[in-house]
Amino acid sequence: MEVTLSEFDQEFFLTIAGHEGVRIQDGGVYHTFLVDGESAGVVGYIPGVNTQGESIGFVQVAIAQVYRGRGLTKAAEDLLAKRYKLACLYATIDLKNTDSLIAHKKAGFTEFDKETINQLHSKGLLNENQTRMYKKYTAKAV
Ligand SMILES: CC(C)(COP(=O)(O)OP(=O)(O)OC[C@H]1O[C@@H](n2cnc3c(N)ncnc32)[C@H](O)[C@@H]1OP(=O)(O)O)[C@@H](O)C(=O)NCCC(=O)NCCS
Repeated sequence: MEVTLSEFDQEFFLTIAGHEGVRIQDGGVYHTFLVDGESAGVVGYIPGVNTQGESIGFVQVAIAQVYRGRGLTKAAEDLLAKRYKLACLYATIDLKNTDSLIAHKKAGFTEFDKETINQLHSKGLLNENQTRMYKKYTAKAV
């Protein structure tokens, strides 16, 4: 199974069940990803910089129904981090989105501790019905 990043295809994106869970935003970098040359999903990120001055991304992913359950969240997000040399990916996930919570755990993401999540909630940086997870790609990333 070969996974590759291709040009973002809006028409394909709109065919993915649950695509409303992914907000295409100005300033974001998005790709359609292919499995053995066939469109399988969309992955992208909103760029940012961490306290160490490293590039990081707020990641988003949507996978076509027939390609689900194959670990493609990890494959696509790792490819994205590698392509854009991102030190860390952050995923903001609705607590009701069990599929995404499981997929990101399986992809190697860790949920921030309760104290950090509570702080993000109280500062209004995260909705009450959301949590945030991260995956480091370099040793010192935070
Ligand atoms: C969220 C979403 C991307 C998850 O997709 P997915 O295909 O379920 O994710 P993955 O395949 O990467 O991982 C989840 C499952 O694959 C399994 N899996 C992981 N690696 C695998 C592998 N190498 N081979 C086979 N199965 C694998 C996992 O065990 C898990 O299955 P489980 O639920 O039975 O434990 C998908 O539900 C989706 O597109 N939803 C709509 C958009 C959305 O909500 N995006 C997230 C916004 S935060």
